[in-house]
Amino acid sequence: MRASQSQALAILPTTSATTTTTTTTNVLLVMVLFFYVAHAQPLVPGFFIFGDSVVDAGNNNHLYTLVKANFPPYGRDFVTHSPTGRFCNGKLATDFTAENLGFTTYPPAYLSSEAKGKALSTGVNFASAASGYYDNTAQLYHAISLSQQLEYYKEYQKKLVKVAGKSKAASIISGSIYLISAGSSDFVQNYYINPYLYRAYTQNLYALGARRIGVTSLPPLGCLPAAITLFGLGTNVCVPKLNQDATSFNNKLNTTSQNLQKKLSGLNMVVFDIYQPLFDLVTKPSDHGFVEARKACCGTGTLETSVLCNERSVGTCANATGYVFWDGFHPSEAANKVLADDLLVQGISLIS
Ligand SMILES: *[C@@H]1O[C@H](CO)[C@@H](O)[C@H](O)[C@H]1NC(C)=O
Ligand SMILES: *[C@@H]1O[C@H](CO)[C@@H](O)[C@H](O)[C@H]1NC(C)=O
Repeated sequence: MRASQSQALAILPTTSATTTTTTTTNVLLVMVLFFYVAHAQPLVPGFFIFGDSVVDAGNNNHLYTLVKANFPPYGRDFVTHSPTGRFCNGKLATDFTAENLGFTTYPPAYLSSEAKGKALSTGVNFASAASGYYDNTAQLYHAISLSQQLEYYKEYQKKLVKVAGKSKAASIISGSIYLISAGSSDFVQNYYINPYLYRAYTQNLYALGARRIGVTSLPPLGCLPAAITLFGLGTNVCVPKLNQDATSFNNKLNTTSQNLQKKLSGLNMVVFDIYQPLFDLVTKPSDHGFVEARKACCGTGTLETSVLCNERSVGTCANATGYVFWDGFHPSEAANKVLADDLLVQGISLIS
C-alpha cells in the first residue's frame, strides 16, 4: 500500500486556527517536515501501532471474530477504494500520521501477508478492533488483547533481527515511534478501565526497548453517534456522563504519563489529546468545514458499526466528506485528517 506524498504542507490551514504558540510551532514543523519529506527520508526509522478499532489496519481480518470491517462500504474512499479492515471510509489518523512522518507505506497489519521481509523494518501495526487495556475486553469478541499484541511485538523483534541485523534492529527499536490507542472498547464493552493497566503496559513496552511513546487520550465517548442513540435518552446532544468519565480517565492518563516519564530514564512520552479536537468537531462542525456531526454516514448513522454497516445498510450517505463520523463509533477520513494534523503538532517532541 502506498501512501500519497507531499502532505506535510497541508497541515497549515487546519491547525493555524489554534493558539499563536502552536502556529509558530507549526511553521517550524512544516519547515522541518518539508526538508525531510523532500529528501524522501522519514523522520524516524519506524512507526508501531498498538490498540483497538480506531487504529486497526486489518489484523481482525485474520481472526475468528464478529468485529470486522473488511467489506464494503468500509474502505470505499481509501487509496485502493476497497475495504482493508480499517473501520473507516478511508484513511485512519495513523495513516495520515505515517504520511506526515515521511513514510511512503503504512505500517502493515502484523497478521497480514504484507508484514514480512524488508517491510518489517519500518514498523508494524498490532492493533485489533474490540481490544482494550483490560484483557477481558478483547476476549469478549475474540480480538487480540493488548498483552497479546505485546507478545507479537516480541516475536516481531526476533524477525527484525533476522531481516536487519542486530545493531540496525536495535536502532530501529529505540528510534521508532510507538503509538498506543486504546480504551474506548473497555468503556463501551465493559465499562471498566484502570490507569494502572495502561502504566504497566507502557513499562513493558519500555522494557522491550521503546523510547518514543505516544498514547492517545479517550475521545469524547458521549459524543459518538451510537452513544447518543443508546444513552442519550432521546436527546440529540453528547451524553455528559460518558464525557465526564472520559475526561476523568484522561486526567489520570496525563498524570500517570508524567510520572512514567520522570521514572524511566530516556523515555520520551506524549499524551495525544484527541478529546478536545474531536469535541470541537462535534460541537462546531461548520468551523472545520463539516456539515453533519450527529449522524454518521453509514446506514441510519445512529448506531451501525462493523457487520451492521454493510452494503445493504439503508441510508448510507453518498459522500462522507462533510461527516465527522463514518459509522456509529468511528470518525470519517475527513475527521481523521483533522485529528492527525493535531497529533503532529502535539507530537513534535517525539520527533525532535
Ligand atoms: C495534560 O497535561 C498537560 C500539561 O499539564 C496539559 O497541557 C494537557 O492539556 C493535559 N492533557 C490532558 C489530556 O488532560
Ligand atoms: C465529496 O465532496 C467533496 C466536497 O464537497 C468533493 O471534493 C469530493 O470530490 C466528493 N467526493 C466524491 C467521492 O464524490
